[in-house]
Amino acid sequence: MCGIVGYIGEKKTVDFLLDGLTKLEYRGYDSAGVAVMEGKNIFVEKSVGRLDSLKEKLKNKTLNGVIGIGHTRWATHGRPSDVNAHPHTDCHGNFVVVHNGIIENYMPLKEGLIARGHKFISETDTEVVAHLLEENYTGDFVDAVRKVLSLIEGSYSLVFMSRENPDVLICAKQENPLVIGLGKDENFIASDIPAIISRTRNTYILNDGEIGIVKKDSVKIIDRQGNAIDKKTFHVTWNAEAAEKGGYEHFMLKEINEQPKAVRDTMSKRIAKDGASIILDELNWDKKFLDSINKIYIVACGTAYHAGLVGKFYIEKLARKLVEVDVASEYRYRNPIVDENTLVIVISQSGETSDTLAALKESRRLGAKTLAITNVVGSSIARQAENVIHTWAGPEIAVASTKAYTTQLILMFMLALYMAQINGTIPADRLKELICKLKKIPAQISETLSDVDPIKTFARQYGFNEDVFYIGRSLDYCVALEGALKLKEISYIHAEAYASGELKHGTLALIVEGVPVIALATQKSVYEKTLSNIKEVKARDAIVIGIAATGDTELEKYLDHVIYVPDTDELLIPLLTVVPLQLLAYYAAITRGCDVDKPRNLAKSVTVE
Ligand code: F6R
Repeated sequence: MCGIVGYIGEKKTVDFLLDGLTKLEYRGYDSAGVAVMEGKNIFVEKSVGRLDSLKEKLKNKTLNGVIGIGHTRWATHGRPSDVNAHPHTDCHGNFVVVHNGIIENYMPLKEGLIARGHKFISETDTEVVAHLLEENYTGDFVDAVRKVLSLIEGSYSLVFMSRENPDVLICAKQENPLVIGLGKDENFIASDIPAIISRTRNTYILNDGEIGIVKKDSVKIIDRQGNAIDKKTFHVTWNAEAAEKGGYEHFMLKEINEQPKAVRDTMSKRIAKDGASIILDELNWDKKFLDSINKIYIVACGTAYHAGLVGKFYIEKLARKLVEVDVASEYRYRNPIVDENTLVIVISQSGETSDTLAALKESRRLGAKTLAITNVVGSSIARQAENVIHTWAGPEIAVASTKAYTTQLILMFMLALYMAQINGTIPADRLKELICKLKKIPAQISETLSDVDPIKTFARQYGFNEDVFYIGRSLDYCVALEGALKLKEISYIHAEAYASGELKHGTLALIVEGVPVIALATQKSVYEKTLSNIKEVKARDAIVIGIAATGDTELEKYLDHVIYVPDTDELLIPLLTVVPLQLLAYYAAITRGCDVDKPRNLAKSVTVE
């Protein structure tokens, strides 16, 4: 995820900017840049790649400016490059801006600005903000910023600098973190506390809708209407390591908690304003194209493969197209039946997984149409595929994948709806209903995350078992597979997921007294059958923990423990049921004293066969 820093004071700003950006390196980035007020001009330097290449470019420059902003970029709109790196400027270099998040309505804004004569040099959504500032500035910097904020939609933290106003930085927050650090004759701005913790522990943590007017000896917070806000300072007590994790004990827990935002970011720009259709600008598919496709393969590894299983379900159910799902390491060597009428969808968080990349190359060699779903812009897989749709989860640092998985589900769901729209396989009112339910998912994930105590208790109780079984039917089975993988990889407990109906074909022999079974029972279409399977394991004295939708009054009659998630459409409920399973794995690993963020024998990016 991008990192932001800003400084205004009496010292050379560039020293703090580079130091602050270095402290934010752990968050992942692909390019970096700084802007420094030098006399009457703003000097900007940017570089793709590591911070070291930016430092190299700055090595022989003498920068004495005492006000400046800096940024590390994680590409979303536009590939990683010098030009796309922040800060971005308006046509005349009068205004400079750095931004984290996504400006959802940047396309119509950009078209309007271009029509009015503005010249754009980058592919980013951020650049519109600098040009809007130029257009709306009539001498009052704060007013111009407020006007710009009223024009943009989306999630952001922003810092603005103006050549005509060299005594102030303005910052604004909406759904992305932003903190102002308070010093003596100097103040700091940062997206994250680690950037400023070595300079000050007195801060203002901005809330959504707040604007900070930061001078070297004063900080004023106002709301969007310009009213002053009497804000309390927050004294940071975390050490540097805890600060990197945003106060969470592990990156995995932080990322589990980031899911509402990751999911919202991934979906919101892709839903039409009237909520009646899905917009996938990345694809230009039409009925003729879809009619030419007679088979779809989804190919991926690990967690991404599990997202693919859910994707198959969505596409077959909504778009009525045949889908096969395969693990990449098998697919690439089994001479798959693929030709120009096949669409191959590869899913990969990192975009670098060797098996998935090889499967993609093989598909292209065989003439298939290819689509990649990945979280990393400019990754090998993104570059090799004909079409790419990005999840906007931000970088995942914990090895165990969590927010990447839920954002992959979101995109698989939206892709299926998009195809169904084109194919005419979904009635307009059902489409609208599903989009309406989709929009509620981020809030429902937050609700699921708000009650973790029962999950902690189960994890403590059962964390020392050697075997755990996960069962479910239909989409519950797909999620069971992901739940079992999470438990295995971080707690080293042997876990197996079974389609509930398959248990009786052998595995039931292993279900004996005291064996923990996690039973997912949210799929209404197969609910009665699932219940019978749950009774089968209960009859063998297994300890069964149910996962059900709120409103289910049946399950608790048979089980000692039921974890409820908010009710939604059975197609969307995997986005909610996976959350307690992630948490269960997390707390079981903690109970066993495992190194959660760096589990044994697993790398974040598997670039070997
Ligand atoms: C599990 C996990 C792995 C990855 C797999 C594919 O938590 O992280 O199973 O999902 O190695 O990685 P990507 O998605 O980067 O291709």
